[in-house]
Amino acid sequence: MTNENKLHELQRLTALQKDIQQGIATRFALEDEGLLNALAAASEQGLPAIQISPIQGKMLQVLAAACNAQKILEIGSLGGYSGIWLARALPPAGRLITLEINPKHATAVRNAFAHAQVDDRAEVRVGKALELLPGLEGEAPFDLVFIDADKENYPAYLDWALRLSRPGSIIVADNCVRRAFEQPSDGYTTGVTAYNQRIVDDPRLVSLLLPMDNNYTDGFAISVVKSIEKM
Ligand code: SAH
Ligand code: DHB
Ligand code: MG
Repeated sequence: MTNENKLHELQRLTALQKDIQQGIATRFALEDEGLLNALAAASEQGLPAIQISPIQGKMLQVLAAACNAQKILEIGSLGGYSGIWLARALPPAGRLITLEINPKHATAVRNAFAHAQVDDRAEVRVGKALELLPGLEGEAPFDLVFIDADKENYPAYLDWALRLSRPGSIIVADNCVRRAFEQPSDGYTTGVTAYNQRIVDDPRLVSLLLPMDNNYTDGFAISVVKSIEKM
C-alpha cells in the first residue's frame, strides 16, 4: 500500500469507529431529560465536562442489573450525570450514595438529582472519599461500586470497594485504559496502572479493561468480586 492509501484507510477506520459509537449511543443509550438537564446545569456552572459517556452510563445500568443492585456506591460525583444513570438502575427502595469532595459540585448534584426525580433514592455526601468511606461500613455491602474520583487514590479505593462488597458485587473504575498505556507518567498514570495490576493479580476478582470511548482509547476497568476473604 502507498502511504496515501494507508492514510485513507486510517481515516476510514476512524470515521467508522465514530459512526459505530454514535450508532450504539443512539439505539441503546438515549439520554432522558434529567440527564440532559444535569449536563446543561453543569456546563452553566462551569464544571469540567469530564462525565462518563452515554454508552458508559448504559454499561453501568447493564452491570447494575447483572448484580441485582439494590445499593450502589459512587466515588466522585461531579454534576450528578453518572449518578442519574446509576440511580435509574435501582428499584424504588434502592439506594445510591455518591461521595464528592467539592461542595460546589455537591450542590449541583443535589439539584440534578431533584430535577431527575431520583432524590428519593440518591444521596450525595461531601468530603474526601477516604475520610467518608470508613463511615459506610454500617451501610455495606454495596452491590455495585463505581470509582471515578482522583486517580492517585484508585488503589486505596479498591481496598475500600472490596471491604464494602459481597461475593457477586461488581467494581467499576473509569479512565483505566488510555493513560495506562501512554507516556509520560504522573500520579494519574501510576494510580490507574497500579489499580489495573491489582485487579489482575487479586484472585478474589475476575477483571477486564474495556475500551469504549474516544475511538476506543479510554474506558472502564470492570471487576466481579468472587470472594471477599481477607488477603
Ligand atoms: N462520575 C462523574 C465524574 C466524576 S469527575 C460523572 O461521570 O458524571 C471526578 C470528581 O471527583 C470531581 O467532581 C472531583 O471533585 C471529585 N473528587 C476528586 N477527588 C476527590 C476525593 N478525594 N474525594 C471525593 N471526591 C473527589
Ligand atoms: C479526568 C477525570 C475523569 O474522571 C475523567 O473521566 C476524565 C478526566 C481528569 O481528572 O482529568
Ligand atoms: Mg472519569
